[in-house]
Amino acid sequence: MKPVTLITGASSGIGADLARVFAAHGHELVLVARREDRLTALAGEIAATGRPRPAVLALDLVRRDAAAALAAELAARGLEPAFVVNNAGFGLSGAAADLDHAEQFAMIDVNVRALTELSLAFVDSLVRHRGGILNVASIAAFLPGPGMAVYYATKAYVLSFSEALHHELAGRGVRVTALCPGPVRTEFQARSGMQLPAVAKLFELPPRRVAEIGYSALMRGQRVVIAGTGNRIAIALTRLLPNALVLRLVDQRAKVTSGAQ
Ligand SMILES: NC(=O)c1ccc[n+]([C@@H]2O[C@H](COP(=O)([O-])OP(=O)(O)OC[C@H]3O[C@@H](n4cnc5c(N)ncnc54)[C@H](OP(=O)(O)O)[C@@H]3O)[C@@H](O)[C@H]2O)c1
Repeated sequence: MKPVTLITGASSGIGADLARVFAAHGHELVLVARREDRLTALAGEIAATGRPRPAVLALDLVRRDAAAALAAELAARGLEPAFVVNNAGFGLSGAAADLDHAEQFAMIDVNVRALTELSLAFVDSLVRHRGGILNVASIAAFLPGPGMAVYYATKAYVLSFSEALHHELAGRGVRVTALCPGPVRTEFQARSGMQLPAVAKLFELPPRRVAEIGYSALMRGQRVVIAGTGNRIAIALTRLLPNALVLRLVDQRAKVTSGAQ
């Protein structure tokens, strides 16, 4: 079986740049997302740099059988993951009770269930190749998130799960890193129904930089990495504040970014 790096959500934003960064470091890739045309274009772009052409797998991670289908497809192609990058995810802006409930459950399916299944499905081959798992969380993981309650909660899960898995798999030679980006200008904002506020400029990083930070942290075996000094300071400060105040601040920010104020 040929070792590969599996990257979900590679059709845009941070995931596409993670693919470029892993490819530049010599990884052979399998790219996963729903939009096959985007994945094929990215595979062509990477192949044009002289790197091996990534395999492309169009898959909706909301599907209950997504991880099993992915595993079967990899086996059929003679591939097995040395690294898994769980990057696919989306948010929804608005009060949880008012947002479409089914859409919020679909968010849990992608951000939490699929990420968990893909983190666990290939542990034997990750051990064989002394590889690792990069799970994309968010600085939202450190905060309660009125205005995006389910999204923030999914990212708190990703952080908690990844830290525990880091500890559990360390003895087996498998690295696990939670990457926590702050604001990054991608399709995420339009998909979530929000806009980056002017103040986000102070904390914003380009997706390529976030991908490089995630790659380096994973290869170093770092448990958690918050992308960017400004974001690290902001999260350290919010942890000194009482939760009642943090809730009011996040709620205020959500009203601005959703255009409600
Ligand atoms: N942008 C930010 O400010 C920010 C900040 C912190 C954390 N993050 C996290 O970073 C990760 C990447 O987000 P991004 O900013 O790069 O957003 P993006 O540009 O919207 O990319 C999201 C990716 O996830 C994939 N995806 C979404 N739903 C999927 C599904 N049902 N099945 C398969 N793939 C699916 C999308 O592919 P298809 O639509 O083609 O399926 C796309 O490739 C997410 O986990 C996000 O929560 C983003």
